Amino acid sequence: MKRRPFIAGNWKMYKTIDEALVLVSHLKEAFLEEKNVDVVVAPPFTALKVVSDQIKDSVIQLSAQDTFWEESGAYTGEISPAMLRDVGCRYVIVGHSERRRYFREDNEMINRKIKATLNFSLVPIVCIGESLEEREMGHTFNVIERQINECLYNLLPDEVKSLIIAYEPIWAIGTGQTATDLQAQEAHQFIRQLLSSLYDTHLANVVRIIYGGSVKPDNIGGLMAQPDIDGALVGGASLNAPSFIDIVRFERG
Ligand code: PGA
Repeated sequence: MKRRPFIAGNWKMYKTIDEALVLVSHLKEAFLEEKNVDVVVAPPFTALKVVSDQIKDSVIQLSAQDTFWEESGAYTGEISPAMLRDVGCRYVIVGHSERRRYFREDNEMINRKIKATLNFSLVPIVCIGESLEEREMGHTFNVIERQINECLYNLLPDEVKSLIIAYEPIWAIGTGQTATDLQAQEAHQFIRQLLSSLYDTHLANVVRIIYGGSVKPDNIGGLMAQPDIDGALVGGASLNAPSFIDIVRFERG
């Protein structure tokens, strides 16, 4: 089954407003005709509005890097899915390993965030993945299974169909150590089989599962050639226009 490739740049805590505008103007110029790939950028909260305004008439779509699960209220420092919608986001990254690690987010909180995101018609990009220790102990599939079960708990099949799953082995994030094409494919295939047994084969075939962890222009081609890899969540290499442009154009490489 052919799924539409999805490439997202997670800018993390980088880019002032001026820097964000420079980067996005290069991307906009490059992606005039990108019809076969979903191209998404996830700037920091402070740059969402200006980036949103600048990409209005382009193919580039907007994502936030996180959200809170309530719509409004006395939650100092938090941003709601309603606010993200208001500023023009279509996607929200949920459960990134850096949030799990530094802010103690667990699967239950991530499940709440996913539900809130869906309630506001935003598409969650749900991050899962094992640590190096878990992989070395042979627990990769158990960890993935638990994350899927708990993060997607109580979601309707139609909701699951609409979301994007990002498999990001923690040991590959920001380390320059990408999973091999086969390691990534094996995990993606496992996730798809899991979705098939939890829901059904059609649903499993529709959900896009993207890979993240040291994706670069020179390894995107091999990853995208795998049958169960539908795109990439790109950190470091999305901060620089030429490398992100090359990644999005993997098919022409
Ligand atoms: P990286 O980050 O591409 O810099 O490894 C990926 C991510 O954290 O989403």
